[in-house]
Amino acid sequence: MLSHNRETPYGVRVSDEQRPYGNDNNPALKRVRTRHFQKAKEDGIKITGLTSYDFLSATIFDEAGIDFLLVGDSAGNTVFGYDTTIPVTIDELIPLTRAVVRGAKRALVVADMPFGSYENGPDDALHTAIRFMKETGSHSVKLEGGVRSSAQIERIVGAGIPVMGHIGYTPQSEHGLGGHIIQGRGEAAAELLADAHAVEDAGAFSVVLEMVPSEIAGRVTAELSIPTISVGAGPACDGQLLVWSDWAGFTRGRIPRFVKQYASIGDTLLDAAIRYREDVETGSYPATEHGYDG
Ligand code: KIV
Repeated sequence: MLSHNRETPYGVRVSDEQRPYGNDNNPALKRVRTRHFQKAKEDGIKITGLTSYDFLSATIFDEAGIDFLLVGDSAGNTVFGYDTTIPVTIDELIPLTRAVVRGAKRALVVADMPFGSYENGPDDALHTAIRFMKETGSHSVKLEGGVRSSAQIERIVGAGIPVMGHIGYTPQSEHGLGGHIIQGRGEAAAELLADAHAVEDAGAFSVVLEMVPSEIAGRVTAELSIPTISVGAGPACDGQLLVWSDWAGFTRGRIPRFVKQYASIGDTLLDAAIRYREDVETGSYPATEHGYDG
């Protein structure tokens, strides 16, 4: 069995001995905090993140030492089957976030604030953030937008809730942006930099850069004192984040070019389901050893 027990500047990662799924009483098993994000940037240690939408995946990613788990509004696509992230609601995301929090003993959990839950202004934004913090136990929230969301970020941070920003390609604005388009190219670089600084100045502890050319992502990373997290923004960022179903080969159909697939879970499940169906149809499952007759 693999052992993932390893000292890091931000806590000891879960070891096999600490299973199942970590141990709240084990003082060595420290929660990743926002200050550890800062320390990781200062020490040049990369931060790893994956999305998660349920208890089982959260326990596995936590055991692997993934530093943060984002309960993304990408659940709109991956869990609920919508075409975009736009329809997903707070009420749909809350139970998923709660399940991930239960599975994450070490990882910092980030609750994604869905479209429509913060655009109206700082009061709405704080109300949504408080709902996530109180009803799920998440450790932070994320919202999209730079300059346009800075007042919302400031209000939430002012209430003691850590915020992860998200700029570049922001899927909730897919229609406004004119599709799935790379952001920050050419003259748009200045706008991206302004967004990044606005998020930092508003008090966010980190910022996701999605679908941004590596060179401009490198510039943002060098200019900001908070960590940058790349989603298709190249290697210069302080950390990386991927949607787990894309990363694990669970998603059927097209996945973005920036994703490296580490498994083929979709094919494995398909094969297992076909073999199970065939076994049931041919009568080879259940066999004697699966019964209680011996
Ligand atoms: O919802 C999500 O998964 C996200 C990431 C792609 C950044 O927002």
